[in-house]
Amino acid sequence: MGITVEKLHAMEILDSRARPTLAVTLVASQGVRAQAGVPAGASTGSREAVERRDGDPTRFSGQGVLEAAAAVNGEIRDALSGRSFDTLSDLDAALLELDGTADKSRLGANAVVGVSMAAARAFASVAGRSLWQSFAGSLEAPRLPVPHFNVVNGGVHAPNELDFQEFMLAPLGAPSAAEAIRAGAEIYAALRKLLLGRGLSAGLGDEGGFAPEITSPEEVLTLLMEAISDAGYQPGRHGVALAMDPASSELYRDGSYRVAGESLTTDEMIERYVEIVERFPVWLLEDGLAESDWDGWEQLTARLGESVELVGDDIFCTNPAIISEAISRKVATASLIKVNQIGTVTEALDAMRVCHEAGYGQFVSHRSGETVDDFIADLAVGTGCGHMKSGAPARGERVAKYNRLIEIEDGADLPYGLKAR
Ligand code: PGA
Ligand code: ZN
Repeated sequence: MGITVEKLHAMEILDSRARPTLAVTLVASQGVRAQAGVPAGASTGSREAVERRDGDPTRFSGQGVLEAAAAVNGEIRDALSGRSFDTLSDLDAALLELDGTADKSRLGANAVVGVSMAAARAFASVAGRSLWQSFAGSLEAPRLPVPHFNVVNGGVHAPNELDFQEFMLAPLGAPSAAEAIRAGAEIYAALRKLLLGRGLSAGLGDEGGFAPEITSPEEVLTLLMEAISDAGYQPGRHGVALAMDPASSELYRDGSYRVAGESLTTDEMIERYVEIVERFPVWLLEDGLAESDWDGWEQLTARLGESVELVGDDIFCTNPAIISEAISRKVATASLIKVNQIGTVTEALDAMRVCHEAGYGQFVSHRSGETVDDFIADLAVGTGCGHMKSGAPARGERVAKYNRLIEIEDGADLPYGLKAR
């Protein structure tokens, strides 16, 4: 069932980092009102859709989004108001045509994605479905994803000296999403105790994980193993596994990687990962190498692709064309999926489809700057992609997504866990 756009409105609100972002409301004449909050990244890929920021130094250090809001309230509203659309992909196509650029920079990717997400909700409501149900059948059968809890933050997400950006807990062996979330919360609490017991800071980074004064990735992984055991869980792929996102584009300069004071070649980085994977149950590695290091990625994939899910984030930017190229070069084995990185829900679904058809995984993700919008939980469930990350099991904007998983699980009889590969 289609929608007729009656009203469209955007306003400038705050995200979880005290930076401005957009809240978009779409009213359809079928009696439906839908909203969306737009997320924003900090360690962004260079080929991401371009968000529009005012650049006025007298407001929010130039980060204001009044012009993006004005694009929704002016040009986009004028173009869509009174128009009927049969499908979300029709509406998204109208947005792309109106913007006219490859990277959404004219209207602003933040304006475009806010409208697209609100529209996705409106289409679901008009059809009498919840959001996750509206995605059902597009890819795999719906299932509850394994939440990946980012409990230690470094890189550009924290003021500590830890170079790797994210250290995650992945309760692969949990019996349900609710039990996985319980495990994440209990291990988070155990980790806090461990850190404080060692005189380390339990202060938080941008995604709600701890940001201790540790520089060595292996030391963090050792602590996580202890915290898992302390909380009464089994570390490993049948219990609680580990995952990492070094966000290594941020560490790459002049052909080498800066890690804990050392300068490593691509080969040395790959060796480091091989050793880590032998010592610790790391089942997923995201952005292990930089977005420009495609040759390195080919080697990394040949070396570890069978045993570890290798996720491309900065290197792919949720872009179906880039992912297709990666598939043909045997680069990575999965793609991160961030709707705002490509700019419309339809294109994010296209990226997921390209992955699905090639046997590549799809790892649905929040951004480091978030609102309480829980869209990604429904996207992960409805597409049956099997795993999702939304930061720590703490702080309202992170927990909103995990709590939405609990709510979906409570109301529907769906399987939990990674899909069978
Ligand atoms: P970002 O980081 O949202 O700051 O881009 C998240 C990630 O790298 O996965
Ligand atoms: Zn990443």
